[in-house]
Amino acid sequence: MDTRGVLAEVGWEGLEALSGQIETMLRQSATTHGMGRALRALRREIELFRAHQAGREDVTTPIAARRVQIGGGARLLPGFVNIDIMPPADVIYDVREGLPIVDGETEFIFAEHFLEHIDYPTSVKKVVAECYRILKQNGQLVLGVPDAGMVIDAYVDSDPGIRERMMRDWYANRDDQAHFNTYLDLVNYLFRDQDDSDRYTPHLWAYDLDKLVSLCAEAGFRKVEPWPHDPTIANPDRAWGSVYTVAYK
Ligand SMILES: C[S@@+](CC[C@H](N)C(=O)[O-])C[C@H]1O[C@@H](n2cnc3c(N)ncnc32)[C@H](O)[C@@H]1O
Repeated sequence: MDTRGVLAEVGWEGLEALSGQIETMLRQSATTHGMGRALRALRREIELFRAHQAGREDVTTPIAARRVQIGGGARLLPGFVNIDIMPPADVIYDVREGLPIVDGETEFIFAEHFLEHIDYPTSVKKVVAECYRILKQNGQLVLGVPDAGMVIDAYVDSDPGIRERMMRDWYANRDDQAHFNTYLDLVNYLFRDQDDSDRYTPHLWAYDLDKLVSLCAEAGFRKVEPWPHDPTIANPDRAWGSVYTVAYK
């Protein structure tokens, strides 16, 4: 279906009206906390939908790309086609819908602290399969995520050092400090983060080394191994507390 077909099918007027109703309800004191959560989630999904439809209009044919970054946010990598659902990416696209890239020509894909923000299994497995599709033979996919294994080990070992470092490196600037009460709260924040505030985008799934290896192997990658954090590509702030793998097609 072309973009015009999509626009006609969704009915932009209906979507505008729905957005207006959501804003009105969110302003009303009678709107309950639970309803507010659901409305904010729908508002967010409508924003992503709008951004994706606008982005699709800019990509009339699949792009040939040697290097691709997915979900880089403001960290644009030079020499890469940077794809994200939000500006300032080169390509604005909801990658849960696939990658607008040609088959078998990409040499290197990088995605850091992105996978945990999309739904598992449907979207996660689709994105990894799309990465496999666009890579050439021997092409590499590097995935980096918060290391749930580290956080669980520290819980079992009652390791105060990890707890202190998580609070210092990850959560020091957050406005919800009062809710980090026990170590299990930190485990929960890594697994799902909180979604009562628009400031934070929830985590939807947690990963460790085994899970990244399994995901890539299932998609057909012939070899998957740990990737040593390379600050010339990766966010230096992610060096601690993340797990990275490189998968070879
Ligand atoms: C936590 S940020 C990570 C940014 C950067 N990789 C880093 O490590 O600093 C997650 C990024 O994934 C992007 N993202 C989330 N869902 C997406 C989707 N469905 N399609 C494309 N990008 C998405 C967000 O817009 C955001 O830029």
